[in-house]
Amino acid sequence: MKGSVGKRITTWVTGNRVWRSLFRHDLPHDDLGRMQTMFTNFFLHLVPARVHFHSLRPGYTLGLGVISLFLFAILVVTGVLLMFFYVPWAERAYHDMKDLEFAVSYGVILRNMHRWAAHAMVAVVFLHMVRVFYTGSYKRPREFNWVLGVLLWLLTLGLSFTGYLLPWDQLAFWAITVGTSIASYPPWIGKTLRVLLLGGNTVGQGALLRFYVLHVVALPVAVALLVAVHLWRVRKDGGLSRPLTPALPAIAGGVPDPATKDATGPALAEYEIFPPFSQKTYGLMELAWGTSPVVETQAPEEEIPSWPHLTFRLLVLFVGVLAVMSTMAYFFDAPLEELANPTHPPNPAKAPWYFLGLQELVSYSALVGGVVVPALLILGLMSIPYVDLNREGEGIWFTSQRGRRIALACLLGTAPLGPLLIYLNGHFGARLLWPEAPQAVVDLLNPGSLLLFLIVLISLMTWRVTGSRRAAAIALFSAFLSAYVILMIIGTFFRGPNWVWVWPWQAGAIY
Ligand code: HEM
Repeated sequence: MKGSVGKRITTWVTGNRVWRSLFRHDLPHDDLGRMQTMFTNFFLHLVPARVHFHSLRPGYTLGLGVISLFLFAILVVTGVLLMFFYVPWAERAYHDMKDLEFAVSYGVILRNMHRWAAHAMVAVVFLHMVRVFYTGSYKRPREFNWVLGVLLWLLTLGLSFTGYLLPWDQLAFWAITVGTSIASYPPWIGKTLRVLLLGGNTVGQGALLRFYVLHVVALPVAVALLVAVHLWRVRKDGGLSRPLTPALPAIAGGVPDPATKDATGPALAEYEIFPPFSQKTYGLMELAWGTSPVVETQAPEEEIPSWPHLTFRLLVLFVGVLAVMSTMAYFFDAPLEELANPTHPPNPAKAPWYFLGLQELVSYSALVGGVVVPALLILGLMSIPYVDLNREGEGIWFTSQRGRRIALACLLGTAPLGPLLIYLNGHFGARLLWPEAPQAVVDLLNPGSLLLFLIVLISLMTWRVTGSRRAAAIALFSAFLSAYVILMIIGTFFRGPNWVWVWPWQAGAIY
């Protein structure tokens, strides 16, 4: 009896016109229904109706791109809510923060969630880039999407950096003062860039307003647009990357028997069903011309319906991200120091954590930390797919066992180099041995430049020994990654007043 009442209510709710106008399909029970559900729902149609089983392997993508997306969504929602309580006015901003803490219901949770999600997004987008690199997913035809990704990474840093100033406390004020002074080092454009950013020469009301507008309008809109293009490109490039299978022997003069798995020849599954570089020319309704159609990259029999395989994973990931962020927001408060005081700089004044590696380098040479390394980093990253041209190792973590060993050796081998060079610089540095040394000598002989030189050397040696550009790229990327993370850790935990070395447990260490 109870069951039938429940059934009647369900039928009434799901059978009426309002419900049917919203949900046009019942829960799908067959493949056709699954496809229709994916096609007819606005949100679901953003992902493909069928997905290659390799793309669903959690160990392949680690879900990092999707997590970046969810974090961005959380930031937009919490950010818009915060806008109801915040005015970008130097005399008010800090008090609005205090109000969020003490006067607004759940205000502190809202602020914490926004803050932790922002830090998480900086880290996760970076890790996503690391995964894309190590799986060789930047290779043709995904070169442009990689470049878009690098831009997205820079925009993400920009979003976080502009948000840093808004609380208008000591931490914010001085982190931005230091951060924008690093931005002013590039010759010709540096000073203008800083003035443009700050609306003057110092951090003040002009800077607060500019950072606010950049933070709540310009950068989020730019990120949203680029993310849309980025995801569209993932679809157009044939879905996520995956290992290439050897080309059909048809090219070499013979088609394998699908059933064969013996000495007479490899099984069909071991070959690429649609060879990418076939000589045959196709024309699609006079609209598209090429040597092979896009289906080349797809093997339909290896794809499964996205509903429920992909949709369920996305849901679990979203709930997971939300749960972690809510828990962090509940238990850990975002820092808020005393009101910004332009006449009392803390000692040391530190940039946001993700720029501390650069700040460490700037402490030896403004040229190296402020110009050479950022420029090489951005140009180097963008040019990777155009230098490492062949498709070796695409879709395979580290390409091969050898690649894995190279990555590990470079990650571990480079880690002690930074501290060692810093130690040597402290005892035998150019300025110590030759106090009157011209700046050019210091720019050339300091831990930053020497580290850079060693990293390039490691990469060139790897190229020479292996003869593989991919191996050289892995060595370069891993060595750089390791060195930068170590410098960031040193800047965060091992630098005290006047930027001298302090051990974290030493009294007076400031983080
Ligand atoms: C706001 C930042 C970003 C978002 C929201 C985002 C989102 C995504 C998503 C959802 C995917 C597909 C699933 C996955 O790989 O997990 C993806 C793939 C991809 N992303 Fe990103 N991404 C961002 C930044 C980046 C960065 C910094 C790079 C590299 C510099 C990058 C390069 C790529 C490439 C090349 C693919 C295709 C990967 C493949 O085919 O295996 N993305 N991205």
